[in-house]
Amino acid sequence: MLVVEDLVKVYPGPVTALQGVSLTVENGMFGLLGPNGAGKSTFMKILAGILEPTSGRVRLDGQDTLENPKRLAERLGYLPQEFGFYPHLTGEAMLRYLLRLKGVTAPRGEKALVAELLEQVNLTFAAKRRVKGYSGGMRQRLGIAQAIAGDPRLIIVDEPTAGLDPEERLRLYRLLAELAEKRIVLLSTHIVEDVAVLCPRFAVIRGGRLLAMTTPAQARAALTNTIFEGTASNDELEALRRTRRVTQAVLVEGRNRVRVHEPEGHPPAGFTSAPATLEDAYLVLMRDGRLAGVETQTTPAGATTPLTATATATAAATTGDNASART
Ligand SMILES: Nc1ncnc2c1ncn2[C@@H]1O[C@H](COP(=O)(O)OP(=O)(O)OP(=O)(O)O)[C@@H](O)[C@H]1O
Ligand SMILES: [Mg+2]
Repeated sequence: MLVVEDLVKVYPGPVTALQGVSLTVENGMFGLLGPNGAGKSTFMKILAGILEPTSGRVRLDGQDTLENPKRLAERLGYLPQEFGFYPHLTGEAMLRYLLRLKGVTAPRGEKALVAELLEQVNLTFAAKRRVKGYSGGMRQRLGIAQAIAGDPRLIIVDEPTAGLDPEERLRLYRLLAELAEKRIVLLSTHIVEDVAVLCPRFAVIRGGRLLAMTTPAQARAALTNTIFEGTASNDELEALRRTRRVTQAVLVEGRNRVRVHEPEGHPPAGFTSAPATLEDAYLVLMRDGRLAGVETQTTPAGATTPLTATATATAAATTGDNASART
């Protein structure tokens, strides 16, 4: 179990990137969802032990990772947002280099380990190709190969799906889901679909604060009977944007397909009730900073109250997917 308590990070400037983030993560995939500049990478870097927090505590299976960085390094796989490769090396040579840097032991020899890891991420076919010829998805999978070396307890992947085409994204989803079967995988993203596809639990972060920590089902349930869908001309859409809470407007066959959030349940004329999506929930959260019925972390940095996000997470874990039990 990974327990993060009241993490604060103030960069010189000063820029407060994290304002007291607490969460508890059990085995499996956990998503950290948030817009640009939310503090995701700062959070991931602190957890990975490459950035010191201003204050706060991180424990992995009961051990303080900030006090035992060496112990953490042995149990961690980390794929940073910006991962540098030497483009002229082959995939195989690049991986060998990264494993040496990481100090991974290979009881059955380095060659066997490299081959095994490439096989695990489906890159055997490209082992002898230079990295500069790899697609975005292939590079990400090579990055994951070094992260999973040594069978880490915790894997941290920072925006691994950014810039991938749908097919490559799907391939990466399958790989990540498999990795999460027997360990903790922490994934950050600004793509709601990543969470919908992969994460049984997730947190939303913005401005260095957690806005929610919940499950996709609970987030959708919070909007039951408040989402309505209909079509609108451009003028009508403009008016709707002024008077209503539009969560989405997409062109479908040349017409605006519009979704609105109406907490009181009064839809615009011609609009009909629609099941809420995770995207709706995210957009409402971004607009309101909260989602009715979903726990939020609103305590100021440094303050400790009985109901921290950690307590919320424990409640979520014990009540399962039952939103009504958490009111
Ligand atoms: N080294 C730094 N010095 C000063 N400010 C920083 C530094 N790194 C990040 N920041 C600031 O901290 C805030 C959080 O940045 P961070 O990179 O953690 O966000 P993020 O959620 O990962 O964003 P993105 O989605 O763009 O990757 C931003 O305001 C950013 O400008
Ligand atoms: Mg980032």
